Amino acid sequence: MKVRRGQKKNLKAAPAGAAARNLIRGRFARGRIPEVEAFTASLPFDRRLFRHDIRGSIAHARMLEQAGLLKPGELRAIVGGLERIESEIADGRFKFDIADEDIHLAVERRLIALIGEPGRKLHTGRSRNDQVALDLRLYLRDEIAGVIALVARLRAVLIRLARRHVATIMPGYTHLQRAQPVTLAHHLLAYVEMLGRDRERFEQSAARTAIMPLGAGALAGTTLPLDRRMVARALGFKAITANSMDAVSDRDFAVDFLSAAALTQVHLSRMSEEIILWTSTEFGFAALPDEFSTGSSMMPQKKNPDLLELVRGKTGRVIGDLVAMLTVLKGLPLAYNSDLQEDKERVFDALDALKPALELLAKFWPKLRFDTKRMRAAAGGFALATDLAEYLVSRGTAFRRAHEIAGAIVRETAEAGSTLEDLSIAQLRRHSSAFGADAIAILRAENSVARRTIEGGPAPSTVKRRLKELGRR
Ligand code: ARG
Repeated sequence: MKVRRGQKKNLKAAPAGAAARNLIRGRFARGRIPEVEAFTASLPFDRRLFRHDIRGSIAHARMLEQAGLLKPGELRAIVGGLERIESEIADGRFKFDIADEDIHLAVERRLIALIGEPGRKLHTGRSRNDQVALDLRLYLRDEIAGVIALVARLRAVLIRLARRHVATIMPGYTHLQRAQPVTLAHHLLAYVEMLGRDRERFEQSAARTAIMPLGAGALAGTTLPLDRRMVARALGFKAITANSMDAVSDRDFAVDFLSAAALTQVHLSRMSEEIILWTSTEFGFAALPDEFSTGSSMMPQKKNPDLLELVRGKTGRVIGDLVAMLTVLKGLPLAYNSDLQEDKERVFDALDALKPALELLAKFWPKLRFDTKRMRAAAGGFALATDLAEYLVSRGTAFRRAHEIAGAIVRETAEAGSTLEDLSIAQLRRHSSAFGADAIAILRAENSVARRTIEGGPAPSTVKRRLKELGRR
C-alpha cells in the first residue's frame, strides 16, 4: 500500500491520503503509516463475519426506523445496500481496503458509497465495540449449532457400529496391559458417552452465546431511544446483556466454546490414538481403509494413518486456542480493549481443526475393518484371572485370599507355558477346594463378559439396554 502525504491546503477540512480512505479519522491530520495499518487491522480475518455483520446491521436499522431515527425510505435504502454488499462479498467482487481496519467499517464505507446520506445514519447509537460482540455471538451461535450436529453424527455412527459388535469380544486394557475381556460395543460406547458430554457442553456454551449486546454502545449505552429487545427478537436471541460495560468486554462465551472444543478435540485425539494402535501390526485388531490412508515416499509397504495422526496433532492447536484466549482476557481492565480483537482467530482456528476432524472420523469408522478373530484371541488367557478370584468369592472365600490363590494359579500356569483356558478342574482344586465343577465355564472370555451384567458393565444384555436408551434420544 502506498502512503500519500496530506495536501497542505485542505489539511483540516478533509485529511488527504490514507486518512481520507477511512471513515473515522475526522480528528486526524495525517493517515497511519502502512505498517501500523496492517498490524492493527482485523479485516484480513474478520471478513469471515460479513454475513453476521450485515444481519446485525439490518436488525439494528429496522429498530432505528421503529424508534423514529430513520425514515422508511432511508431504511429501505440501507437494507437494499446491505443486501447488495453481502452478495458483492459472497461473489468475491467486493474491494477490500486495509485502511478500513475491519469488516464493520468496510461494510459501512461501501454502504455510504452506494446509497449516500442514509448510509451515514446506520451506525446511530452503535459502536464497533458492541457491534463486534454481536457479530461474534451471531457467528458462534450458528457455528456451534453446526458443531453439535457433527458431534451427533459421529455419535450416531459409533452407536450403529456398536449394535453390530455387542458380542465381539476384545481385551480391555489398563496401563495398556491386557486387563479383562470386554466387547467392541462396550468400548465404542465409551466414546459415545464422552461425545454426549461434549454435546452438553456445546449446548451450554450456545445458550451463553445467544445474548444480545447491542445498545451497550462503546461501553456506556446511549442517550438515544433504542429498543434493544426488538433487536434481540429479530435476531432470535432470548436475552439481552444486563451491563453495558460487561457487554463490550465479555468474551466468556468464546472461552466456553473453546473449552468445549478443546475437550472434544482431546476426545477425538484419544480415539485416533486408539485406532492407530489397533491398526498397527503389533495389535492387528483392524485394518486401515485405503481411502483414508497415506503411503510412504520411501517404504513401499507402508500404509500410514496420517488422518488420525493429524487429528491427534491438531489437538495442541485447539488447546492453544483456549489458553491464548484466556491469556488475552486475564489482564484486561474494563471495558473494551483492542486485545479483544485477538478473539476471532482463536475461534476460527478451533473451528477449522474441530469440524473436519468430527466429519472425517464419522466417515472413517464405518470403513474400518475389524479382525474379530484376533481380538477374541487376545482377550482370553490371563485376562480371566479376576473371574477366577470372583468365583472363589462367590463360594465364600475372602477377596484378598481369593486374589492370592488366583495369582498363584497365574504364576504356575505361566511357568508351565500354558494359559488359564487350558486348566482342568483337578488343577484348579489343587489350589482351593472351593472350586466346583462349574469353575471351568468361568474360564471363557464370552462367559466372563456375559456375567458382568452390572449396570454400566460390558455384558451384551447390559450393553443392549444402553443401546436402546441411546436410540430413544
Ligand atoms: N476490529 C475490532 C475487533 O475485532 C472491532 C472494533 C473495536 N473498536 C475499536 N475501537 N477498535 O475487536
